[in-house]
Amino acid sequence: MDILLTGIKPTGKLTLGNYLGVMKRLKTYQEQYDCYFFIADLHALTLPIEPEVLKNNTLDVLSLFIASGINPKKSTLFLQSQVSEHAELNTILMNYLYMGELSRMTQFKSITEKMKNEAIGLGIFTYPVLMSADIVLYNASFVPVGEDQTQHVELARDLVHRFNKKYGDILTLPRTLVNTSSKRIMSLSDPSKKMSKSDPKGDIFLLDDEKTITKKVMSAVTDMVGKIQYDPTNQPGISNLINIYASLKSISIEEVENMFKDANYGTFKKEVAKAINDELTPLKEKYAKIRNSDELNSILALGAKKASERARPILNKVKKAVGLIVNE
Ligand code: TYM
Repeated sequence: MDILLTGIKPTGKLTLGNYLGVMKRLKTYQEQYDCYFFIADLHALTLPIEPEVLKNNTLDVLSLFIASGINPKKSTLFLQSQVSEHAELNTILMNYLYMGELSRMTQFKSITEKMKNEAIGLGIFTYPVLMSADIVLYNASFVPVGEDQTQHVELARDLVHRFNKKYGDILTLPRTLVNTSSKRIMSLSDPSKKMSKSDPKGDIFLLDDEKTITKKVMSAVTDMVGKIQYDPTNQPGISNLINIYASLKSISIEEVENMFKDANYGTFKKEVAKAINDELTPLKEKYAKIRNSDELNSILALGAKKASERARPILNKVKKAVGLIVNE
């Protein structure tokens, strides 16, 4: 069975962008692939974060993974930091990605631009190396991500080509799985910007209450055109809401346009808010139960063990290929 892998960083409250971009789809992948889902807690350290916040966010993301339908017995669900093979492979792969390519990554460029006058840790620069290690450590064939992470997966592909050319057929070439309507969910208050954990204005957080969600959707920025049609250039706000509705209902953009061809913006927004709440209310209820249960530690222990069993032989193969001596 092919391996599918993805990770989420516990840096803030998860948004509807994270959910529609990736999380919602994972439950179905579980039936088709051997799945590895993890919380990228080492990546969360690449920007300043308080220890208590990191800890809480990590358990929140873990609980949301399970609430969204991930079965920890079927899939391997774990913390990146609890599987030390990630850090080991990262150290080796540092030497196979180049400073020029890392400095061209758009995430790196936009973060360093924003933090111009602050001290910036090295981890934000080497971020894609660890991400490549995450992927190739399991020989993953498929990596579902939102559009903002596709450049990093492309870099992992370059790395695989480079490594295999030098050492033989050692690593598996990963492919991104991107969902058309939900690859880039935009901010409700500024539809030219991606909805993001670090930019709370215009975000819908998965744990927001129903009233807050409705209020945020009702005040989403739209336009003066007055028609519900998909036109990201002239109607970015409405197009974003169409994308959100289409991915929540698993229908096409044309179907959404048809359903609401005679509706005004107010009516459409009300339906979008209802669709979001219909999806998130049960998710929040499940989340609350799991988050307060004492099963989380044993779920993590099981996940770390299964992940390490898969990763160790692949790491050893890489070590041997580059000439490191492995004691087996
Ligand atoms: P992170 O935590 O920023 O985001 C988790 C996933 O959500 C997607 N996403 C979005 N999709 C659609 N619209 C949005 N507005 C939106 N915002 C976020 C992201 O693309 C991502 O797929 N580097 C990764 C974590 C990671 C990883 C990996 C992923 C670490 N190692 C290996 C895949 C494979 C990240 O920062 O995700």
